[in-house]
Amino acid sequence: MDRIIDLRSDTVTKPTAEMREAMKNAVVGDDILRDDPTVIELEELAAGIFGKEAALLTISGTMSNEIAVMVYTKPGDEIVVFADSHLYNLETGGISALSGAQPRPLHSDTGVYDTEELGRAIMPPGVQRARTRLICLENTFHLDRGLAVEKSRYADTADIARRHGLPVFMDGARIFNAALATNTTVGDLTGFCDAVDVCLCKGLAAPLGSMLMGSRDFIDEARRIRQRIGGGMRQAGVIAAPGILALTKMVERLPEDHENAETMRRGLEAKGVAVDRGGVLTNIVNLDVSPAGWKAPLFAEKLLAYGIRAKVCTDRTLRMVLHNDIGAREVSVVLDRVGVRAGAFLSRHKTPGGGGRASTRRMIHSPS
Ligand SMILES: Cc1ncc(COP(=O)(O)O)c(C=O)c1O
Repeated sequence: MDRIIDLRSDTVTKPTAEMREAMKNAVVGDDILRDDPTVIELEELAAGIFGKEAALLTISGTMSNEIAVMVYTKPGDEIVVFADSHLYNLETGGISALSGAQPRPLHSDTGVYDTEELGRAIMPPGVQRARTRLICLENTFHLDRGLAVEKSRYADTADIARRHGLPVFMDGARIFNAALATNTTVGDLTGFCDAVDVCLCKGLAAPLGSMLMGSRDFIDEARRIRQRIGGGMRQAGVIAAPGILALTKMVERLPEDHENAETMRRGLEAKGVAVDRGGVLTNIVNLDVSPAGWKAPLFAEKLLAYGIRAKVCTDRTLRMVLHNDIGAREVSVVLDRVGVRAGAFLSRHKTPGGGGRASTRRMIHSPS
């Protein structure tokens, strides 16, 4: 079998050769004692790019998200989150377990709160009420859809937050994708937020790490909380070094992922697959195989037999994520192998670069 084409997530990217070299040569110190020069360089770089006073390197997007909530809340407080957000769904109940705050999840298809619903979600004062302390956003929105939200669409949320004196935190795991798709900078897109985080290890290909940004006071407190939950690091320059490359070299190649995602969408549509086009799209392709007569888990199984990994999202939908390890060639291999016209995979495919050798795989029929 040829190399597996792994489209489950942009988290599967391998660090580049340059990143591995940078890790080897990183100048390191003890970051808890604040004398790791490479970590300091990365934090100053990130703060500058986002136009915030300070930044903190954490292990993961999850850790950054949870620290942000912990800084802004006390047990018994409440935060507003999207019902489909990573923060609410995929952090093992961290909001309540770590902060002791309770989430108030609101539904959105677009990554923007309905203005009236958000207004109602903010608790009025009262002896029986939890105190609303934070409004959380996510951009790109929805980890299975990757929708970029333009800054102008946050105007009402920003206004409500200001009127109620509430801070706004943005989970910007893929904020560089959002900025690219909405034709602006991350600083501009997150300027109205009190705090924001970004992942270094997704489309930016670092092996791990997330940057949390905000005011100096916010980051001072975040640093204490990171320590409390065991996230303080010693010779962390080896992590920071590829992080610096992620921010200085990898952002500029993201357009390739967006272009490849669009080629994938068009190619799949041409083969009878419905793709999600409900918003400003980025590097995530969300496809609905039910019109072609498939259930998503079975479709994923068949894809795997053809050397392609995709993530099953629902019974009908899958996600394919474009990233640094997937080029135009891999996209065309996928489209070549996934011929679902008339509800069936193509009966044969050409081995990539193999001089047109036809495979003898049998046609796989869609389930009845
Ligand atoms: C939107 C979003 N936020 C946060 C995270 C968490 O990042 P990590 O896996 O680094 O904890 C993810 C991970 O996929 C994500 O998609």
